[in-house]
Amino acid sequence: MTTTLITGANKGLGFETARRLVEAGHTVYVGARDAERGRAAAERIGARFVLIDVTDDASVQAAAKTVEADGGLDVLVNNAGIELRGPGNSVPPAGDTTADEMRTVYETNVFGVVRVTHAFLPLLQRSPAPVVVNVSSGLASLAGLSDPDSPAHFYQALAYPSSKTAVNMITVQYAKAFPGLRINAVEPGFTATDLNGRTGTQTVEEGAEIIVRMAQVGPDGPTGGYFDIDGPLPW
Ligand SMILES: NC(=O)c1ccc[n+]([C@@H]2O[C@H](COP(=O)([O-])OP(=O)(O)OC[C@H]3O[C@@H](n4cnc5c(N)ncnc54)[C@H](OP(=O)(O)O)[C@@H]3O)[C@@H](O)[C@H]2O)c1
Repeated sequence: MTTTLITGANKGLGFETARRLVEAGHTVYVGARDAERGRAAAERIGARFVLIDVTDDASVQAAAKTVEADGGLDVLVNNAGIELRGPGNSVPPAGDTTADEMRTVYETNVFGVVRVTHAFLPLLQRSPAPVVVNVSSGLASLAGLSDPDSPAHFYQALAYPSSKTAVNMITVQYAKAFPGLRINAVEPGFTATDLNGRTGTQTVEEGAEIIVRMAQVGPDGPTGGYFDIDGPLPW
């Protein structure tokens, strides 16, 4: 049994992943940037709570100290993410996107992943079987978004998909740097959550499946890959 931290686990895919891992017998930290909502979510499923805003160095450092003092970490799920949709839940067109909007999305989705991974790496390296799951997206795939026949081709925005492409590259580079770690990027599939105004076609139970699976890979499992529930995806 492992100790797992999931960022952004007060709701959506992160919460469902936390619920499933607790059910499987693991010790789980629900990471959340709001203490009240995070604590309530953790209590609902018998998890621990840790305050963590992935955009804030001090918050991430404090979370790492708390988890270290409580006994350390085996599995980190970098799940917290934002999409920044426009009015009426619209996907912002490429031509309208500003550098500030890009920076906002990257601060959470990209720099947040690095900030949290960097802070927790020393703890993970003390685990006998360390695992990191980076929650990416099918929209990260350069192969998919550049192929007119792909279902993802319709998606026009700049910030969100490119942030997840960066997450995929970060995953590959960490995997090379830390061969003792199992680190993979996952695509949950289009899931009804607040991120997309609940327009997703899957339930959170379906979407969390690949996150739960990759959070439980053993030392012989894959690393440096990009997976959905059916297997490896084209980058
Ligand atoms: N839903 C989909 O179709 C889909 C598909 C592919 C990938 N994903 C990815 O799945 C992950 C989870 O998204 P979701 O669909 O479950 O969306 P969600 O329900 O909106 O959950 C996002 C979570 O991230 C948290 N968060 C946002 N910014 C944060 C920050 N600075 N620090 C800490 N936590 C922060 C949110 O906290 P608050 O409640 O405080 O805002 C929330 O708990 C994201 O990385 C998303 O990109 C989703």
